[in-house]
Amino acid sequence: MSVVVVMGAQWGDEGKGKFVDLLASKADLVVRATGGSNAGHTVWANGQQYKLHQIPSGVLYKGTLCVIGNGVVLDPEKLMEEMDYLEAKGVDLSGLRISAGAHLVLPYHVRLDGAEEDRKGANKIGTTRRGIGPAYMDKYARTGIRVVDLMDRDEFLSKLTAQVEAKNELLTKIYGLPGFTVEEIAEPYLAYAERIRPYVANTVELLNDAIDAGKNILFEGAQGTLLDVDFGTYPYVTSSHPIAAGSIIGAGVGPTRVDRVVGIVKAYTSRVGEGPFPTELLDEAGSRIREAGHEYGTTTGRPRRVGWLDLVMVRYACRVSGITDLAVPHLDTLAKTGIERIKVCVGYRLPDGTVTREFPVGLKALAQVTPVYEEFPNWSFDPAKGTPRQYEDLPEGARRYVECIEEFTGVPVSILGVGSERSDAIYRTSFFS
Ligand code: GDP
Ligand code: IMO
Ligand code: MG
Repeated sequence: MSVVVVMGAQWGDEGKGKFVDLLASKADLVVRATGGSNAGHTVWANGQQYKLHQIPSGVLYKGTLCVIGNGVVLDPEKLMEEMDYLEAKGVDLSGLRISAGAHLVLPYHVRLDGAEEDRKGANKIGTTRRGIGPAYMDKYARTGIRVVDLMDRDEFLSKLTAQVEAKNELLTKIYGLPGFTVEEIAEPYLAYAERIRPYVANTVELLNDAIDAGKNILFEGAQGTLLDVDFGTYPYVTSSHPIAAGSIIGAGVGPTRVDRVVGIVKAYTSRVGEGPFPTELLDEAGSRIREAGHEYGTTTGRPRRVGWLDLVMVRYACRVSGITDLAVPHLDTLAKTGIERIKVCVGYRLPDGTVTREFPVGLKALAQVTPVYEEFPNWSFDPAKGTPRQYEDLPEGARRYVECIEEFTGVPVSILGVGSERSDAIYRTSFFS
């Protein structure tokens, strides 16, 4: 048995969905414990594309239990859309389990998210406008409404009435926007409640029983380390904890139960939304990577900002989460760009000329660093040889690149991605027996 956490080591969109789908073939349970519908995880399985937002990617395997933990802020309306989308593709949802402790995203959260972004104007965070920040604000202000409340009509109506009153004050008086009536939210939400009810479970018991019974558990991280509210590029972050620790808080599993933490590191860097990005490429190389990697948001469709791989950042992510293994997708994408020389950031030069491997705290400090690069000749895949299946089959340039990542971070690269399909991966270790 094993408990494995898969998490993003950059700014999200590293390829978590793909690797969770890969590892889920041997997992009994897959858990989403943080974030909400801001996540967009793309999985290609047998030529079909699946875009997942709140439901764990393990859902593509019949019989695998898929848990939405208490740490998620659950948008029931978006969940209904996702359930319809998956059912239309023939996916069996009977393994879905939803924590009664998960907080709800309500329509006023979504409106407030947009209103605050618009108010900030040029200083906006560039959120997904899915109501994530306002929903977590309510959770920590102790005014949130949870799935357990939604399951109890009277409780839900009473809490909703108080919240609608408070949020209407904000919306109308501060933002000059229309408010909501209790009825316009209650009616659809009470209908969602009935569709959700069969899936609601005591997920803390479920998960801990599964661990005790020696089952294989996989945590599917959302977002990435640099979007963490404590460890990310604050304030250009999300409102949850995408680091490994977030998984255990968001699911009710003790830290002693986790065996391995897999950090996903794209072979380059991407970021959606605003905020500093030391290795960002605003030139032709950037557009080539964006096009070769189809770097457009799964949730919002926004073009993703792209740049060279930043190992200072990845090393930091390894430390913050105790990453035991790295997974590096998109080795094929770099090859596809045709760019002759690939750069990797191996240090930050500070304004006084010294070079550091430490990731700084604060945007001002980060904005002042100049990346120090190591260069690698690009590689190419020989179409005659097909997709590489073994590490030894990778072009030498790609292997040197991988070794550089291992040397700098001190963490083994255990899985490599050489294409978007489920099968386009090379394992150098096994995670589940
Ligand atoms: P997530 O949010 O971390 O799950 O990542 P996204 O799904 O938002 O973005 C990752 C994108 O990279 C998706 O379109 C995946 O299909 C794609 N992808 C993942 N691994 C690889 C790989 O090794 N090669 C290629 N070409 N695409 C990959
Ligand atoms: P996955 O799981 C990439 C970014 C947004 C914005 C910031 C705050 O697919 O990797 P929010 O709506 O959360 O308040 O937005 O966080 N962001 C993501 N970027 N991948 C994600 O998820 C993201 N989820 C949020 O673009 O910059
Ligand atoms: Mg994504």
